[in-house]
Amino acid sequence: MSFCVAIDGPAAAGKGTISKAVAAHFGFAHLDTGLLYRAVGAKVLLGMDPAMAASSLRPDDLAATDLRTPEVAQSASRVAVIPEVRAALVRFQQEFAAQDTGAVLDGRDIGTVICPDADVKLFVTASAEVRANRRFDELSAKGMAVTKAQVLADVKERDARDTDRAEAPLRPAKDAVLIDTSDLSIKDAVAAAIAAISKAQ
Ligand code: C5P
Repeated sequence: MSFCVAIDGPAAAGKGTISKAVAAHFGFAHLDTGLLYRAVGAKVLLGMDPAMAASSLRPDDLAATDLRTPEVAQSASRVAVIPEVRAALVRFQQEFAAQDTGAVLDGRDIGTVICPDADVKLFVTASAEVRANRRFDELSAKGMAVTKAQVLADVKERDARDTDRAEAPLRPAKDAVLIDTSDLSIKDAVAAAIAAISKAQ
């Protein structure tokens, strides 16, 4: 029987870290759905039509180039407002969610649109400043030349675009468990997620 965990929240709130830890703990498959939008965003930066890029996306594209740059993140959030792009990515995500091993999907609309019947829904958030600091540390560690102010502006711009869009806006599902990681260590955030999931099993 499939078991689906939906983890949504804004950029750099800790969804990725929590999702990976939860998947390892329970033996579930994990899909970072942001990568789908980043892969489409990267193709669009190379001149491809967004809807075409989404409908021709292949699993290889998710591993291909460096999708973790601020430019690709911005392009991802711009293509993510286009209904045809979102529609082209639904089936892959829903099939992933239905696999027998159990699945964790993280993104913006998993609990609201992709898996409205998920067994557990988590909404992971943190203040914009905390998130920007984390993203700054991550990008600096990779040797990227960014400033804290740039990263904060980038995070706020994406938050606004993701929250204000008409199609599948970022918001907690009514039945989501809220985890605010602003003042939590990674260990405590992961423990809160595991506790919420264990309760639903
Ligand atoms: O999660 P990540 O920051 O990698 O996502 C990049 C962008 O992709 C987000 O800012 C958002 O616009 C979009 N996205 C989305 N729906 C998802 C996952 C990501 O719209 N389920």
